[in-house]
Amino acid sequence: MEDEEYVHQLGRVSVLNSSPDTTVEQIAPVPRISMQAFCETAQVAQVIQEAIADRRMEKAHIKVHMGGAPAAIEAYRSAATPNVIFLETTAAREDLFGHLHALAQFCDPGTKVVVAGRLNDIVLYRDLMARGISEYLVAPFAVIDFIRTISRLYSSAGAEPVGKIIAFVGAKGGVGASTLAHNVAWSIPHDLDIQTVLVDLDLGFGTAGLDFNQDPPQGIAEAVFVPDRVDANLVDRLLSRCSDKLGILAAPATLDRIYDFPETAFDAIIDILRTSTPCVILDVPHMWTAWARRMLIGADEIVLVAAPDLANLRNAKSLLDTVRAARPNDAKPKLVFNLVGVPKRPEIAIADFAKAVDLEPVGVISFEPKLFGTAANNGQMIAEVEPASKVNETIADLTRIVTGRSEIRKAKKTLLDPLKLRLGFSKAS
Ligand SMILES: Nc1ncnc2c1ncn2[C@@H]1O[C@H](COP(=O)(O)OP(=O)(O)O)[C@@H](O)[C@H]1O
Ligand SMILES: [Mg+2]
Repeated sequence: MEDEEYVHQLGRVSVLNSSPDTTVEQIAPVPRISMQAFCETAQVAQVIQEAIADRRMEKAHIKVHMGGAPAAIEAYRSAATPNVIFLETTAAREDLFGHLHALAQFCDPGTKVVVAGRLNDIVLYRDLMARGISEYLVAPFAVIDFIRTISRLYSSAGAEPVGKIIAFVGAKGGVGASTLAHNVAWSIPHDLDIQTVLVDLDLGFGTAGLDFNQDPPQGIAEAVFVPDRVDANLVDRLLSRCSDKLGILAAPATLDRIYDFPETAFDAIIDILRTSTPCVILDVPHMWTAWARRMLIGADEIVLVAAPDLANLRNAKSLLDTVRAARPNDAKPKLVFNLVGVPKRPEIAIADFAKAVDLEPVGVISFEPKLFGTAANNGQMIAEVEPASKVNETIADLTRIVTGRSEIRKAKKTLLDPLKLRLGFSKAS
């Protein structure tokens, strides 16, 4: 029974209680491989077509054919085999082994074969593995199962940790997206002991250097302006080390150059960080350029920071619509409200805002000018200024949420005590 369940999970998203919204699954992008799929049913062919459109498959070249294993054998009699052959089979066990035996004679070394079938049987699974099949998927399976299976061929469990990319963006400028990105980037290594790099993508005006009290001579600009020279060594040299577990790729924040970049300008840097660093925080400025869009769409996790007013609501909605359409197989972005309760400023109620964008917040942070102002002016983190504050608790929660270390706790409706705010009390204790 246990064995059967195990095989079953190979082809299914596990498990009880996990939905794409609460469990962040980290699936590495598939490298630039070639793959041919030979399907027997329209259903499986359709799943693969949908998977091809997924962001993690962007670099791979995939062709889908019908005809199953016999068509594959025919095709490779004369042609070279790709990196991956995917075979769907409805054949009985013995026929399947016959097909695989025939195919094996035409397979080039290095070609991986993935088989999908209806039989959920551990003995079959083991026999296939013993014959050098890379993976067996139980059909029917979901798009994400297919993506995961192909991804794992190139990033198996024992391999080095693959970086998770977490992008922070504001629904408007000045809503605290960078501040939260920096605080979370600080908390991930501090609270969870995970190596982290913070990338400041606001080249002209970014504040990562200021917030971490670093004045690096070079930074991300040195890499982005010389794309051909970008390699792991260069990126390493450009990192300014805030601690042994936190590095920042700081923005030059000087205006002697113009920061117009092509869409893929940051790809090389991000790719390198992804293979070398478990957690990468992108501080994405509030703008809508090809590269900024690409940074959001390509991230494993998106944190959208918004203040509760109408412009934020409109922008949050358009950003969320865009992102949802471009990443149909990903977890929802995480919405954080910030600057809630600015004295005398009318607000849209959090509940109404959440309803309008169809997304519950994972955190609500009140307007705390004293706390944030102190942190910003001293080049300190909230956790350093007021570790016991409510704000810091929310940042710690957010840190666990974006790294997949906790279930999302329902954000409390309000953290405000207007009277205290007006009197200028901070939220310690
Ligand atoms: N909850 C808050 N209360 C008071 N000030 C805040 C709060 N959050 C952020 N700030 C301040 O707002 C300013 C803008 O923040 P920043 O992170 O640069 O915004 P963005 O990156 O969204 O443009 C900073 O001076 C920051 O210290
Ligand atoms: Mg910013």
